[in-house]
Parts: sequence; structure tokens; C-alpha cells
Amino acid sequence: MAPLKVGVLISGRGSNLLALLEACATPGFPATIALVVSNRTDAGGLAHAARFGVPTAVVPHRDHADRESFDRAVSAALEAAGVELVCLAGFMRIFSPWFPTRWADRIINIHPSLLPSFKGMHVQQQAIASGVRVSGATVHFVTNDLDGGPIVAQAAVPVHPDDSVETLSARILKAEHDLYPLVLRWFGERRVRLAAANRVVIDGVAADAAVLWRP
Ligand code: GAR
Repeated sequence: MAPLKVGVLISGRGSNLLALLEACATPGFPATIALVVSNRTDAGGLAHAARFGVPTAVVPHRDHADRESFDRAVSAALEAAGVELVCLAGFMRIFSPWFPTRWADRIINIHPSLLPSFKGMHVQQQAIASGVRVSGATVHFVTNDLDGGPIVAQAAVPVHPDDSVETLSARILKAEHDLYPLVLRWFGERRVRLAAANRVVIDGVAADAAVLWRP
């Protein structure tokens, strides 16, 4: 089967993008990154893509009068590259309803909390402030319910009593770098499907393989 063509959307540093680029560069990996799109010209992740010889496109959101026109420009770039799956990796724009509808069932995101806890921004701070003992990362389908789409896989890390936002974020980010490539492999192997009642099924994979424990 041909490798799944992936488009990665970034806004910044791009460490998750780097984890995906490295995974896709391993022999036999069932996905390939066809295009990286950034809404910011200064996104550090663009250099990672260039280093791996992956095409990039910058679509500055400020050049567009409204969200939908920005979304349509991003979508056109993805379509022109033949993208089959969109991976958000630190993409910090909220879509108009048009985009998740256009890419329905073919767009995923990585979020630095154990959803449905801590949606939105500053989620590591939210986790610390709430007193939870466990947090982590979630890969989920993107729908028009912000950070609320069906969950594909999660990684759990401890929250230590003396954690700062920086130390917790670093622990979660390390787990993200394991989780996202694992999930992308499953998509590449065409194992992932949406079942009824918000459930995601990963064919041929033990159910607990979709939970990473990072004590
Ligand atoms: C990651 O922690 C990612 O989960 C988060 O932004 C960071 C991006 O880092 N995404 C969100 O908060 C999305 N709402 P990176 O640019 O180094 O991959």
C-alpha cells in the first residue's frame, strides 16, 4: 500500500513535527509528509521540514479577512499536495466551521492534556492549578467541538507536587513525541476508524496499546 500522504500544520517550534519527520524517515514507515503549512513566517518548525527536504507553505492568517478565507487557502495548499490526512502539531489557530467539515475524519490534533480535562490554552497551568496527580497528552480527531473530537490515543505522565509549567510541559512534550508517531503509524496502516458513540477503533491493535504510561 502506498504511504499515506500527510500534511502537518504548525505555528511555532515544531518539535512534534520533528518527531513525525523522523518517524517518516525510518525505512518502511507507512506515511510520508507531503507538505508542512505554517500560519507564521517565523515558525521554527519550517527549518525542520527544510532539513528533511519536505515542501513548506506559509499562509499568513493576517493576509485573510476572515477565518474561512484563511482556512480555504490552507486547504487548497493541502489538496494541491495530495494530502490524505491532516496532522495539527502546535497549530494555534481556531478554524472556521468550514475546515473540520472539509477534512472530516481526516484531521487529527495533539493536545497537551488528558482530554476531556483541560481544553483550550495554558492547559499545563490548568493541570497544576487543579491539583491533578496525572496529566498527559491526547491525540484526537478534530471536529467543530474545540478539543472535543473522538480520542484516538493518550499518554499519561505524573504531575509532581513541585512542578512548574515548564517542568510539566517538558514531561508531557516528551510523551507527545512518542505518542504522535505511534498514532501516525496506525493511520498509515489504515487501522484507525471511527465507530459509533465517539469511539475510535484501531484494528489489529490491543486496546491498551493506545495508552502510553510514562511514570
Ligand atoms: C505541544 O505541546 C502541543 O501539544 C501543543 O503545542 C505544543 C507545540 O509544540 N498544542 C496545543 O496546545 C494545541 N491546542 P511543538 O511546536 O514543539 O510541537
